[in-house]
Parts: sequence; C-alpha cells; structure tokens
Amino acid sequence: MIESIFDNILELPSASIAERTKNLIGFESKFERIFSNLKLLLDQEGLIEWSKKFHKVELPIIGQLKDKYPLIILAGDAGTGKTVSAEAIADRMVRELKKEGFFLKLNTRVRGEGLHGQMGNLVNDAFSELKRQAGKRRIAFLLIDEADAIASTRSTMQMHQEEKAAVNTLIQKIDEIRELNGRAVLFMSTNRLHFIDEAIVRRAAIILEFERPIKEERIELFKQSLEGIDFSTKQLEHLAEITGPEKNDGLGFSFSDIRLRILPEAIAASFPDKELTYEILTETISKIKPSPQII
Ligand SMILES: Nc1ncnc2c1ncn2[C@@H]1O[C@H](COP(=O)(O)OP(=O)(O)O)[C@@H](O)[C@H]1O
Ligand SMILES: [Mg+2]
Repeated sequence: MIESIFDNILELPSASIAERTKNLIGFESKFERIFSNLKLLLDQEGLIEWSKKFHKVELPIIGQLKDKYPLIILAGDAGTGKTVSAEAIADRMVRELKKEGFFLKLNTRVRGEGLHGQMGNLVNDAFSELKRQAGKRRIAFLLIDEADAIASTRSTMQMHQEEKAAVNTLIQKIDEIRELNGRAVLFMSTNRLHFIDEAIVRRAAIILEFERPIKEERIELFKQSLEGIDFSTKQLEHLAEITGPEKNDGLGFSFSDIRLRILPEAIAASFPDKELTYEILTETISKIKPSPQII
C-alpha cells in the first residue's frame, strides 16, 4: 500500500537534497520566512516556557497562535520551483531543528485515475502513514503535490459528492495533525490558488507565492549553470533580457524553461564536436517560447 500511494519516501536530512538546494535561486529568503513562522508552531512547549520565563505568564497570544496549522501552501505557475522547494524546505528544517525527518510525497498518478470515491481513502491512507512516521524525534512531512484536484472548493456546483467528501476529509485531517504538536507538517502545492477550498487556505500558516524569475535571477541562473564558461556581464545581461517578459509578449521564461529546456537544447546543439557558445545559446532561445501560464 505504501509504495503505491507515495511517489517518493525520503529520509531527512538528505545529502542529495541539500546539494540540489544550493542551486535554488532565491531559496534563502523563502526559507527564512517559513522557518520564522513555523518554529512557533513546531515548538509550542518551548513557546510556553519562553513566555513564562520572560513574562511570568502564558501570554494570551500563544493560545491564538495555535489557530494556525502546520500547513504550507506553495502557490505559483508551473516550473517555478514549488516541488523542489518543498523538499528543500523540509530538509533544511530538520537540519535547523537538529532532528530527523521523513518526507512523503503523495502519488499524483493514483489520484489522477479519477476514481472519485477513492480520493477520500487516499487522503486517509496518506495521513495515517504521516502519523505513523511522526515519531518522537522525527518530523514527518507530507507533500500533496498539485493539490487542486483534491482540494478544490467545495462550493463548486458541478462537484461530485465524493469529491466534496474528499475535501472534507482533508480538512478534518489537517485539523488532526495539530494534535501531533509540530511533528507533522503538510505541504500543498498548487498552480491555481483560487481553486483551493477557502477553509483550507484559511488554515495555512504560510502561503508562499512562487514567481517566474526576475532579471537578476535569470542572470544568476545562467551564470551558475554555466560556470566555467567566461561570459561577459553584457552577454549575461543580454541572455536575461531575451528570456524576460519584455521580449516575450509579457511572459518570461520560467526556471524550468531555462534549466530543463533552453540549456539542454543548447548543449544538444553543441555536443559532441563543438563548444557551447554565446551564439548557440541565443540561437536556441530564439527557437523556444516560454511555457504558457496556467490560469
Ligand atoms: N529557484 C530556482 N532556482 C533554480 N532552478 C529552479 C528554481 N526553481 C525551479 N528550478 C528548476 O525548475 C525545475 C522545475 O521545478 P519544480 O519544482 O518542478 O516546479 P513546479 O513544481 O513549480 O512546477 C527544477 O527541477 C529546477 O531545475
Ligand atoms: Mg511541481
């Protein structure tokens, strides 16, 4: 059962995730924001101790902090780094807290089979495993990737009874993980935040928005991925320019467009008998269009 409902089961900390995190542009500021928020939820006991130590009482606000849930929603267009960031955040979090962790990624194909009646079961099974893994010194993370299909708003008229039931189950399970006192964290990623049920959105401790890279980030991405080739500042600027929104009808290239489409194609045009040049790169970019935005 476990293998079939999860795409991926990872033990944390993981050296390979940490290695990949190094190449994630803009990760540090995202992580800072999540960690400063989440440490309040993950360490309720510590917070009460802190309050008593410095203020002699348990400040009322501490009780109110509990109204939030260890739920992080990652929202943004395709290819903006939601999935890689979920793993990176989980890995970094266990390192910061000096704990061990378990990362479960719900298998989206199972969900995609469309047997609506089974979605509720799937959610139930995933959370039982999450609870089972949330051991004493271990933090268990569950990623429901591309959660739109499970978590769409209950008010949609055409929604099947079974789908509504699955959303309700999900809300109930989110409520239950609070009882695990910070040993379980749920990530949900979505391309369409406005489709996610508002009761779920309201519970999220953090909604992290992912965007396509801005100019500086595109420069950084080319620079970092091609370190060892000596491009001038001007050339890097130009690569960033021609992959930006101004030169592409208002919508620039995504992180994955650059990393997983432009660069591999440019390499394919060079390998095995030519060096990878600036000209090959610009030529490749001119033949590729940014992936369309998901609305
Ligand atoms: N911040 C980033 N810095 C560098 N590369 C990134 C970044 N975000 C995404 N990528 C690249 O894009 C690819 C797709 O990211 P992914 O997490 O699958 O996007 P999403 O889940 O939002 O569709 C990653 O494998 C990585 O190569
Ligand atoms: Mg993804």
